[in-house]
Amino acid sequence: MIARILILLSGVLILASCQSDSNRRNTADAQIEKRIDELISRMTVEEKIGQTNQLTVYGTTEELCEKIRNGEIGSLLNVVDPADINTLQRAAVEQSRLGIPLLIARDVIHGFRTVFPIPLGQAATFDPALVEQGARIAAIEASAAGIRWTFSPMLDISRDPRWGRIAESAGEDPCLTSAMGAAMVRGYQGEGADDPTSIAACAKHFVGYGASESGRDYNSTNLTERQLRNVYLPPFEQAVRNGAMTLMTSFNDNDGIPSTGNRFLLEEVLRNEWGFDGMVVTDWNSAGEMVSHGFAADTKDAAMKAINAGVDMDMMSHVFSLHLKDLIDEGTVDERRLDEAVRNILRVKFRLGLFENPYIDTARIARVTYAPEHLEAARRTAEESAVLLRNEGNILPLDASALRSVLVAGPMADAPAEQLGTWTFDGEPDHTVTPLAAIRAAYGDRLHIGYNPVAAYSREKVTAAKLAAFTAQAASYDAILLFVGEEAILSGEAHCLADLNLQGSQSELIAAARRSGKPVVTVVMAGRPLTIARDLANTDALLYSFHPGTMGGPALIDLIFGNAVPSGKLPVTFPVATGQIPIYYARNMTGRPAAGNELLLDEIPVGAGQTSLGCTSYHLDAGFGPLFPFGFGLSYSTFEYADLQLDKEAYLPTETIRASCRLTNTGKRTATEVVQLYVRDRVGSTVRPVKELKAFDRITLEPGQSRTVEFELPAEDLAFWGLDMQKRVEPGTFDLWIAGDSQSGNSVTFTIN
Ligand code: GLC
Repeated sequence: MIARILILLSGVLILASCQSDSNRRNTADAQIEKRIDELISRMTVEEKIGQTNQLTVYGTTEELCEKIRNGEIGSLLNVVDPADINTLQRAAVEQSRLGIPLLIARDVIHGFRTVFPIPLGQAATFDPALVEQGARIAAIEASAAGIRWTFSPMLDISRDPRWGRIAESAGEDPCLTSAMGAAMVRGYQGEGADDPTSIAACAKHFVGYGASESGRDYNSTNLTERQLRNVYLPPFEQAVRNGAMTLMTSFNDNDGIPSTGNRFLLEEVLRNEWGFDGMVVTDWNSAGEMVSHGFAADTKDAAMKAINAGVDMDMMSHVFSLHLKDLIDEGTVDERRLDEAVRNILRVKFRLGLFENPYIDTARIARVTYAPEHLEAARRTAEESAVLLRNEGNILPLDASALRSVLVAGPMADAPAEQLGTWTFDGEPDHTVTPLAAIRAAYGDRLHIGYNPVAAYSREKVTAAKLAAFTAQAASYDAILLFVGEEAILSGEAHCLADLNLQGSQSELIAAARRSGKPVVTVVMAGRPLTIARDLANTDALLYSFHPGTMGGPALIDLIFGNAVPSGKLPVTFPVATGQIPIYYARNMTGRPAAGNELLLDEIPVGAGQTSLGCTSYHLDAGFGPLFPFGFGLSYSTFEYADLQLDKEAYLPTETIRASCRLTNTGKRTATEVVQLYVRDRVGSTVRPVKELKAFDRITLEPGQSRTVEFELPAEDLAFWGLDMQKRVEPGTFDLWIAGDSQSGNSVTFTIN
């Protein structure tokens, strides 16, 4: 009896503490709203407009301080020195009329000083907990510099590797992108936004930017509302549900409407449907660029369209500071909309605790930057992000004891700045550990390590003579480690490619290594999938490393020599040829799906009669499938999936599908498998993808070990926006896979009634 009372009592206490937690949160929010009301009541229109103005630092500190003292600036970006930030902040807090602190922002996209793999690489880990840790570390280092707002996570679904910004994304899939985005939001914002180490997250670019036509940056997108709802919006909704404090509008015009002027997105979806109470900032000058789009007649019209669409802060176009006062005086913009924008901005500043703690302890940055645990987390992320795509004859891992010499070659073997990848303004190349440095440190005492970059950088074209000399040199070594790929500048914003073959003479370099007759291991460091089909035959093994960051060298060398086992899986489909793009696994079936036996270009008889009968959806010169599918990645072990089963055959839309399989490590090494659960809705009110990732998990098993892997999938996760544009679970028959990638595995069937 006593036990029952104690259990009951503890339950009451837990309930009470949960309620007090949410009460505390509600009380804190209520107090913040009261403080906002009080502050706004004292603000002039000019001071309100000043809060909506975000500038990059420029000119002299005194010039900036003057504008700050006059209440003309609400936020600054691109200042990273704590002492400078304190000076600017003092002008706001102690020398302006109302003492409203500045919000200091920076693109901390994949680390601040300790640089992690680019987000596309982090997605390849399929390890949200690790990615969250990386974001936490980025926040600790960035906040120590005085930064309290980052323009990350970038949540653009990216299905076009020609687009340079795929590097900043989590790839092609909404489920994986949602998981990674939510993890980053949690990592950046930490336990409480008012913790001095937390930085406000910014889910960007809202929305559809990754579908820029032809993969050319800033280009138009033409996504239907249904595509937005089912594919492009979900990661943003998850970020909002996980507390993202800000969002950024995207550069693209979708269906002719620039996102920065899209009231449907910014009011209807973001505020009314999702209940977002944070702040919306434009992208750099994207408000002003509505004039160039032809959506605004002039900058005054652009200001009106942006503020009335629901934008709160204008990054660097000045249209708010130039025109809002007149627009309000003329009655074209209601001052209440301005008040709402200022309220959203002040709410972020209050929640971050900036009014209580506006200044930085300038001694903190030295204590936290490059902390050993930060570097180890970066190394582990680089290790988990590498994807083993080829390993002929199980040449990897190399056995150092069986080798006398290794030739390290290629333009990416010792390229500390390139290895960091795009968006690393604050990374310091002299802290990068390259593969060459790492192999020398780890094996220099027992291996003769040769080094020949052959090309000074990825685009360099080298002579046939130089390649021949390299082949001769390589023939005198026991193994060749080639590091190729892309210079960091070849991906990222505004850096798009129409041809995805390896740049320069890198393919020729791999072929030259093959001619040496020695084992060839190729590592590709890039910001995107590249069309490497023609290179595969010339390398025994290929490890793909999406610009791995500061600690990429040790991670890759550990993988190559077997101190670690590859576990990365592709977050994006690899095309055979650029012409296949867009190519992604969650495609529609079409009325004439490829059968897999289609005649390819060279198989079509000369003089063949013209026919369109029996034709299917494929390219004569590239076939139908990808080079490597989404979710693919090899290991140094092998895994067997068996005994796939469901707890029932039929479910109600309110029930949960319990799926399981038996996973066995059938290899010789302890290894980690990313187990993926896919579902197909066979018939819908609109056609449904042939497969959609719905869950995944990392499972580590010793050789011979088996484990039952279980997933609980709420049937409501199968809901989609159908013909009537309502989100619902439609009854019908579904297929379910649990497999190691998006193309393999058997399925089971269930129904929803
Ligand atoms: C850039 C990018 C955006 C970035 C912003 C601030 O143009 O589009 O992602 O956060 O400007 O640097």
